[in-house]
Amino acid sequence: MFSLTEAEVQTQIEALAKFGATLDGGITRLLYTEEWLAAQQFLKNKFTTLGMTTKFDAVGNLFGRIEGTKYPAETILSGSHIDTVVNGGKLDGQFGVIAAYLAMNQLVKAYGPPLRSLEVISMAEEEGSRFPYNFFGSKNLFGSVKQEEIAGLSDIQGIDFEEAMTTAGFTLKEDTSSPRTDIKAFIELHIEQGKVLETESETIGIVTSIVGQKCYTIALKGEANHAGTTPMSYRKDAVVAFSTMCVEATAKAKAEGDPLVLTFGQVIPKPNATNVVAGEVHFTMDCRHTDGAVLNRFATEIENDMKQTAKEMGLAIDIQLRTDEAPVQMNEACVQLLQKSAEKLKLPYRLMHSGAGHDSEIIAKSVPTAMLFVPSIDGISHNPAEATALKDLIAGIETLATALYELAYVE
Ligand code: HGY
Ligand code: MN
Ligand code: MN
Repeated sequence: MFSLTEAEVQTQIEALAKFGATLDGGITRLLYTEEWLAAQQFLKNKFTTLGMTTKFDAVGNLFGRIEGTKYPAETILSGSHIDTVVNGGKLDGQFGVIAAYLAMNQLVKAYGPPLRSLEVISMAEEEGSRFPYNFFGSKNLFGSVKQEEIAGLSDIQGIDFEEAMTTAGFTLKEDTSSPRTDIKAFIELHIEQGKVLETESETIGIVTSIVGQKCYTIALKGEANHAGTTPMSYRKDAVVAFSTMCVEATAKAKAEGDPLVLTFGQVIPKPNATNVVAGEVHFTMDCRHTDGAVLNRFATEIENDMKQTAKEMGLAIDIQLRTDEAPVQMNEACVQLLQKSAEKLKLPYRLMHSGAGHDSEIIAKSVPTAMLFVPSIDGISHNPAEATALKDLIAGIETLATALYELAYVE
C-alpha cells in the first residue's frame, strides 16, 4: 500500500519547519504569532491540494477532511499540535500532523475514499510556551475553554492572551456551541522524546497511559536593594529564596524516585540587574507522575515547603496551579488495534507510558484515543537536535495508515 519515500517525508518536515525557523536549526512557533498563522495557512493549502475540505474552528484548530462514502457522519481523527516550545525541534507536534495527512493520502491513493470520514487536525496549541496555559487547542475541541480561564494571562512581552487571539483572527467558542459527537477515534503519532525505544531497539511505541501533570506559575516577592550596602542578614533576596526552594524540592523529587519528575523550566528574576538584590522571582514548576495520588501528595508537600521557606525568609509567595491533569489511560481497543497494525508490518514494538503530556490525554476524555511513538535519537527533544531516523518516521506513518485503514475502510 505504501509508496512513501524518505525524501518525501523529509521535504514535508523541512517545508513546515520554515515557519518559525531559528538560527540553530530549531523552531520557535508560538500560538497566534505570525509564524504560527503562516504555518496553519500553509497546511490549509496543503490539505486543499490533497483534495480535503478545510476549516478552522473558532480558536484556530485547523481541520482537513475526506468525506466518507458510506458512514460520513462517523469521523476518524488523527493529527497533533502545530505550536512548539521556544527553540524546539522539527518533529514534536508537527510530525504528527504531517504523518496524518501523508497516511490519509496514501490510503486514498491505494483504496479510494474511505467508508467513514477521515480528518487530519493541526491543533492550535499544546505546549503552553507562550501563555501559561497548556492544551488550549484540544481543550476547545469538545467544549470550550472558559474566558475566565485565560483572562489576565499574558506572554513574556506582556501581550494579552485574548488580544493575541483576536489579532490572529480567532476567538473563544460560544459556551453553548455543541461539542462534536461524530469523532469515533483519535490516533496521534508523536516522537517518543525519550530513550526507551532506541535503547531497546524497538521501532514503535504504543502508549497505554499518559502521566499526570501539575504545572504552576509561582511569584516570590522580597525586597529589591543595593548589592553593596545591604548586609546579608537584612536581605529579602528572591533569588536566594527561589534557589533554596529549587534545591530542596529537587532533592525530594530524587528521593521519591522514578517516574516522578520535577522541573523548574522558567525562572525570571526582577529587576535582573547585576548590582541589585532581586526583589522578585517569577518561576514555573512542572511536576509529573504516572500515579495521580502520588503526584497530588508530592506536589502538595512541595507547595507547603515553599510557603514555609518564604515565611522563614520574610518573602511573600503566590502559587498558581495552571495545569492539573490526572494520568490518563488510552483506549484498550485502540491500543490493541495499534498492536495489530505494528504486528502486521512486522515492526518491533513495546507498550509503554508517556512521560510527556500530549493532546491525546485531553481528547481521550471524549473519544477512544491511543498514541503511537517513534524513537528519538539519543532521547533528545525540545531541542533543535531533536531527530528520528527517516526509516523510523516512515514506519510510524505506515503503522498509522494501517490503523486508519481498519478504522475508516473496514465495515
Ligand atoms: O511538556 C510536555 O510534556 C509536552 O511537550 N507539552
Ligand atoms: Mn513538546
Ligand atoms: Mn508534543
